[in-house]
Amino acid sequence: MKLLFVGDVVGSPGRRVLEEVLPRLRDEHAPDWLVVNGENSAGGLGITEKTAKTFFELGVDAITLGNHAYKHRDVYPYLDAEPRIVRPSNYPKGNPGRGHTVVEKGGRRLGVVNLSGTVFLNAARSPFAEIDSIIDDLAGRADHVLLDFHAEATSEKVAMGWHVDGRVTACVGTHTHVPTADARVLPGGTAYVTDVGMTGARDSVIGVRREQALEGFRTQMPVRFETADENPWVNAVLVEGRPDGLAQSIEQLLVVP
Ligand SMILES: [Fe+2]
Ligand SMILES: [Fe+2]
Repeated sequence: MKLLFVGDVVGSPGRRVLEEVLPRLRDEHAPDWLVVNGENSAGGLGITEKTAKTFFELGVDAITLGNHAYKHRDVYPYLDAEPRIVRPSNYPKGNPGRGHTVVEKGGRRLGVVNLSGTVFLNAARSPFAEIDSIIDDLAGRADHVLLDFHAEATSEKVAMGWHVDGRVTACVGTHTHVPTADARVLPGGTAYVTDVGMTGARDSVIGVRREQALEGFRTQMPVRFETADENPWVNAVLVEGRPDGLAQSIEQLLVVP
């Protein structure tokens, strides 16, 4: 089982570079599953039905989200109706959408989970207790499980890796938009990386036009942020799963078209 997970796709530059690079990635790695984080896919913040559908047209099997899940109100009914999209599970119960799902293809089942960190981000419940109950719920219903832990603090993400080690196939971090150099299979068999990074303009400040982000830092005045488009690249990881549901390997892919 090979799973390609793509870090936060930022705006149309991110969607375009993914579309451009994907055939090459498919040729080189032949992934069975393709999952993308789409929380920044619509204009840099949030997701819409339209951007979600462009992912599905590319062959994406599931979409994860994060703190920008609810930026666009129009998408709420779609989040309720589309079982291939997950938003952080530890948000208040009753919020639009679901926190985990199982996608099936060719008789194989992939559990996909999205959780929010609680350090510098808001969530209703602890992600640690939340994942325990989700793992119980997925028992016998999924052959492999992917957890996208959308969190700010490296410490919380590293801790989550240890918490789920040996219980999920992969625990990948998103949200910071900067890839970390610590991808490995943990001793218990879970593929882990603190942050996959983002798919979008490399010559930016985490996806925002650099001159606008810089003006904000320099002047400490309100600045209108727009999505950057210079020098886009794809940040992803390729996870190879074992028959027992854990991971054989994880490889970081930082791909310039
Ligand atoms: Fe993001
Ligand atoms: Fe985020």
